[in-house]
Amino acid sequence: MKNNIQILQPDDWHVHFREGAMLKVVSHFSARINRRCIAMPNTNTPITESNQAVNYKAEIQNNSKSEDFEILIPCYLTENLDLNDFKEGLKKNIFIGAKLYPNNVTTNSSLGVSKIENIYPALEILEKENKVLLVHGEKIRKDIDIFDREKYFIDQELNKIRDKFKELKIVLEHVSTSYGIDFVKSNNLMGGTITPHHMLLTKKDVFIDDSINPYHFCMPVAKTEKDLIAIRKAACHQNKKFFLGTDSAPHHINHKLKNILSKPGIFSAVSSLELYASIFEEENSLRNLEVFSSINGPKFYNLPVNKKNITLTNEQWLVPEFIEDNNIKIKNFYGGKKLNWKVKN
Ligand code: NCD
Ligand code: ZN
Repeated sequence: MKNNIQILQPDDWHVHFREGAMLKVVSHFSARINRRCIAMPNTNTPITESNQAVNYKAEIQNNSKSEDFEILIPCYLTENLDLNDFKEGLKKNIFIGAKLYPNNVTTNSSLGVSKIENIYPALEILEKENKVLLVHGEKIRKDIDIFDREKYFIDQELNKIRDKFKELKIVLEHVSTSYGIDFVKSNNLMGGTITPHHMLLTKKDVFIDDSINPYHFCMPVAKTEKDLIAIRKAACHQNKKFFLGTDSAPHHINHKLKNILSKPGIFSAVSSLELYASIFEEENSLRNLEVFSSINGPKFYNLPVNKKNITLTNEQWLVPEFIEDNNIKIKNFYGGKKLNWKVKN
């Protein structure tokens, strides 16, 4: 077994940094590894205007304890966006693109979109400006099973967008089904982010007897073993359309109660790249890690690949169970378990 591996510095194309005290506690975990992160705009007051994005970017960067750390922000799409500001924000690269949250699908999505046609004017601008649409791909309806939300969204919403905006680049975020993987593969201008937890958990790790494990509860929820295998294969062996996006989403443990009201979101920033490395090793494809973590993403976003290298050492370490700081307590994904790879500082 190799003792060290060197790869180009990664980027994380999907992270939640939150605000205030929580932001202060979590930002440096992502900055310790990544050169760039996409900061998701589903803050308590969502980032819908360019001036908010400018301030939010500065807040994260200032708290990251890292010089060369760059935050990229997509605009949170609502049905009554200021389209002039949106367009200007894209032109000035204040926004890297736009994020579509269907209404009430996940944490802080109550301003999200109810009727997809109502955001067509924004998507037209996005397409013209050659910027990216990031999609939380789940359709919520009373009669749709929680495990079928991704498939329904693809069939009933994403297909419509795909047909109408043929030149628009779209990322299906946190792909959670083999159906989603196939959809991404079938289309030239589609990419997909893959989280570590969707390669490690199935629904059996989330729904246990008549309760849920709140620390394994996220949206989209983990699916079947067949889905997990398809996602692993896409990340570790398909090597082009899929890239790193942890969806690291911290919640104070008081918001992660042992019932269905628990806030969805899994916090993995403390061991993000190490988790991916362990999974790639299990899949006998460590040699493909760099393509997934550091090359496919920038290529999709039309940004330069990072220049510096980072080193992962083959040493065992224990992921701490919790992060406690600043009156914040967060449970780490994989906390209390050992990993075989560690990023060298
Ligand atoms: C995320 C969060 O907590 O902000 N939660 C999650 O379950 N993934 C939002 C999201 O990306 O869905
Ligand atoms: Zn997310």
